[in-house]
Amino acid sequence: MTDTTTATTQDTHIDLTEQERAADLNIQELKRLVGLVEYDESKDPFPVTGWDAIVFVVGNATQAAQYYQNVWGMELVGYSGPENGNRDHKAFVLKSGSIRFVLKGAVNPDSPLIAHHGKHGDGVVDISLEVPDVDKCIAQAKAAGARVVQEPETVSDEFGSVRIGAIATYGETRHTLVQRTVDGQTYAGPYLPGYVERTSTYVKRDGAPKRLFQALDHIVGNVELGKMDEWVTFYNRVMGFVNMAEFIGDDIATDYSALMSKVVANGNHRVKFPLNEPAIAKKKSQIDEYLEFYNGPGAQHLALATNDILRTVDELRKEGVEFLDTPDAYYDDPEMRERIGEVRVPIEELKKRKILVDRDEDGYLLQIFTKPLGDRPTVFFEIIERHGSLGFGKGNFKALFESIEREQDKRGNL
Ligand SMILES: [Fe+2]
Repeated sequence: MTDTTTATTQDTHIDLTEQERAADLNIQELKRLVGLVEYDESKDPFPVTGWDAIVFVVGNATQAAQYYQNVWGMELVGYSGPENGNRDHKAFVLKSGSIRFVLKGAVNPDSPLIAHHGKHGDGVVDISLEVPDVDKCIAQAKAAGARVVQEPETVSDEFGSVRIGAIATYGETRHTLVQRTVDGQTYAGPYLPGYVERTSTYVKRDGAPKRLFQALDHIVGNVELGKMDEWVTFYNRVMGFVNMAEFIGDDIATDYSALMSKVVANGNHRVKFPLNEPAIAKKKSQIDEYLEFYNGPGAQHLALATNDILRTVDELRKEGVEFLDTPDAYYDDPEMRERIGEVRVPIEELKKRKILVDRDEDGYLLQIFTKPLGDRPTVFFEIIERHGSLGFGKGNFKALFESIEREQDKRGNL
C-alpha cells in the first residue's frame, strides 16, 4: 500500500520540531498520532521538517479567532494588525498542540485579501512548511520548474531572524517555506517578524480539556478533472514527496458521484497531501461542488489528530459543531463489524457519536468529518485517531460520500 518501507528501516532518528516540543509531544506519540516515519534527510533534494502554519483568509478574522478559541479550544498566541503597524489586515495566530493556524482578515478597503476572499470565500491561502534550508528548497523548486512566488529573504525583528521564500501550488494556494534557524540562532518570536505576542481574554470552562487535538495529520487538495496526476508529479518532482496509498474507481464511487485520489507525503510523513479530482459519474461530484464554490482548486479538508476522538467529538458537539451524519446501518452491518474486529471502545460508543472506523494491514483508525466550516460548501475539518493504520479511511469513503451527497442535495448542488 505504501512505498515507504525503505524509509522505515533506516537507522536514523527523528527530531521534534520546536512546535512539537512546545506542545509537550514526544516521538512515540507522534508516530501513533500522525504515522511519523524515520528517513534519511541528507538525500532529500527538498527536505521538509514539518508544517509551519496553515494560513486562512476569512471574512472576519476578529470573530473567527474567537470561534476557533471558544469552540475548537485553540489558544491565541500572536497578532499583527493596525495597532502594531500592519495597516492592511488583522492576523491572529492560534495554536493547538503542534498546529499553528493563522487567520487573516482585511482591514484596509484596498487590501488584496478582499479580492481573494470575494473570489474564494473563507479558505486556506497558504500551507506553510518549515524547512531547514530555504535556499536549497527554492533552488530545487526552480530547477524542477516550480513557480517561485517569493525569492528567499531574511526578515528580522527584535526576536531574531527567519529566512523565508514561497512557491505556488494548486489554484491560488502557496507553500511559504520558513527556515527558523538562521546563522545558528533560532527565531524566538510568537510567529514571524511583524507579529507580537497576544494572549486570550477567553476563559475556558471548568473541566474543559487542555486541547482537543494535538497535531495536523494531512491536508487534502481538490484539483480539476484530469489534473490530479499533474499535481502528484509536481510534489514528486519539485518537493521529493513519495506516493502513499492510491484510491481509484469503485473504492470511492457512490451511485451518483465519484472521485479519484492519490496521496503524497514528505520523507518523514509529517506532511501528507491527498489530492482529489472529480471523476465522471451520474451527478455532480462533491469535488465539482467544491471547485464551483471555491472558484478553483484549493484545500478541501484538514485532518486534526487526537488521542481521544470520543472526548474531542463530545466537547465539540457541546459547542455546537455539526458533523456529517452516518446512518445506523453502517454500524449494524455484520460485514463491517467482521472487517473492523476489536477496537479500543465498543462499536456502540462510535455509533452514538457517528464516528467512522477503518482497518487495514497496519492497524485501524477512527475518524469523523465536520460540515463545511464557513458559508460556502468548501473547507471542513476531519478529526482522526490513528491506531497503527497509515491510511486515510478508504473503507469509509463510500459511507462518507453518501453522507456528503445528502448534504449536497439539501444545498441543491447534487
Ligand atoms: Fe482526510
